[in-house]
Amino acid sequence: MSGTQAAQEFPLDPIEKAPLADLRRLQLQRLQWSLQHAYDHVPHYRRKFDEAGVKPADCRTLADLARFPFTTKADLRETYPFGMFAVPMDRIVRIHASSGTTGKPTVVGYTAKDIDTWTQVMARSIRAAGARPGDKVHVAYGYGLFTGGLGAHYGAERLGLAVIPLGGGMTERQVQLIRDFQPEVIMVTPSYMLAIADEMERQGLDPRKCSLRIGIFGAEPWTNEMRKSIEERLELQAIDIYGLSEVIGPGVAQECIETKDGLTIWEDHFYPEVIDPESGKVLPEGEKGELVFTSLTKEALPVIRYRTRDLTRLLPGTARTMRRMEKITGRSDDMLIIRGVNVFPTQIEEMILKQPELSPHYVLELTKAGPLDHLTVMVEMRPEADSWPQAKKDEAAALLQHNVKSFIGVTSDVRIVPLSAIERSIGKAKRVVDKRPR
Ligand code: DLL
Repeated sequence: MSGTQAAQEFPLDPIEKAPLADLRRLQLQRLQWSLQHAYDHVPHYRRKFDEAGVKPADCRTLADLARFPFTTKADLRETYPFGMFAVPMDRIVRIHASSGTTGKPTVVGYTAKDIDTWTQVMARSIRAAGARPGDKVHVAYGYGLFTGGLGAHYGAERLGLAVIPLGGGMTERQVQLIRDFQPEVIMVTPSYMLAIADEMERQGLDPRKCSLRIGIFGAEPWTNEMRKSIEERLELQAIDIYGLSEVIGPGVAQECIETKDGLTIWEDHFYPEVIDPESGKVLPEGEKGELVFTSLTKEALPVIRYRTRDLTRLLPGTARTMRRMEKITGRSDDMLIIRGVNVFPTQIEEMILKQPELSPHYVLELTKAGPLDHLTVMVEMRPEADSWPQAKKDEAAALLQHNVKSFIGVTSDVRIVPLSAIERSIGKAKRVVDKRPR
């Protein structure tokens, strides 16, 4: 079957290319429903709306949403585990949870209709990334409480792909099955993709010769430099997918293969705002700030103005009617403050990948030297450069140190570590080890 024929078998949802006015009308109608639903069925929302002196009926335009209070992770913790659910348990068909580095996990629930919505936005996403019915997809996002595996799985099945549900881990086997089953598409975190590519090389295979044509990468921040590096190494198209469990899981926003210019937000289900994280004021389109989402159709766990902590800006639509968001390169809580300078790990990643002899395997270690914060960048050489004489490795380290100082403004130590010294992630990479006393 030709690609065009296959694409016709799974046409775009009409709303993806609808006139903007139609989208805005649909959003307002759905927003009014969602606010009322949250107010009527979740005591926590009712209390917060009442305290803020707003009623669902006060939302007459999309801009009126700004009058409603924010929701944060703390609200979900306070009502742990099921206090934010807006439907009785006999309507819940699935529960997921995010591990949460501190304290209790964040618990999310879905009705059958929510699972259908999620499946639909994921099918849309995978199609937007360039996959077509008839393709085989290797899913290496974790299955289980994490939303990555099952989210990808349902969406890919709906689109008509043959799903190979590996989950994370057992990297040797991942490589064997890519070699034997010849999938065209892979869905995995970008950091685990690197570990799989390393394993291919370890087994004497050329990653560029593998069957993969499209990688749908997300669940963690990754830079355009990382994209370039993965695309060259595996000769595939690396496409960004975004989502978070509180909002639904993966499939909140997706980059389209034809433009690769940021992620189209599936705004008919998730209404975005970007706010100033300090004042909470809504920022004009194009300005960078914290991304906030309101669910428009979710039944089990409506989220009203949920503060994601992800930093980005909203941009007008290109490949679709919906607005785009710029690639996320950091979260407000990932930001390191080193001697008064704000630094995101991705800024350092960018510098590392500008040096072709350095690998994308790195960790940032923070310690305290007296009263001052101290940053050590630990990075591996690329395998082909690992046998370089020490003097040349020292030069590479000095260059990185210089670039981090001149482009980011922080003093650091750079340590070139032996191959495989940096622990490989099988899911979300941990880039920062903070050894500063609390
Ligand atoms: O990571 C859902 C997901 C699974 C997305 C698979 C994409 C692919 P959580 O575990 O709740 O859900 O983590 C959500 O991960 O707030 C971002 O900080 C980060 N994140 C997710 N996708 C991206 C991305 C899933 N494409 C949190 N770029 C979010 C940057 C991302 N950060």
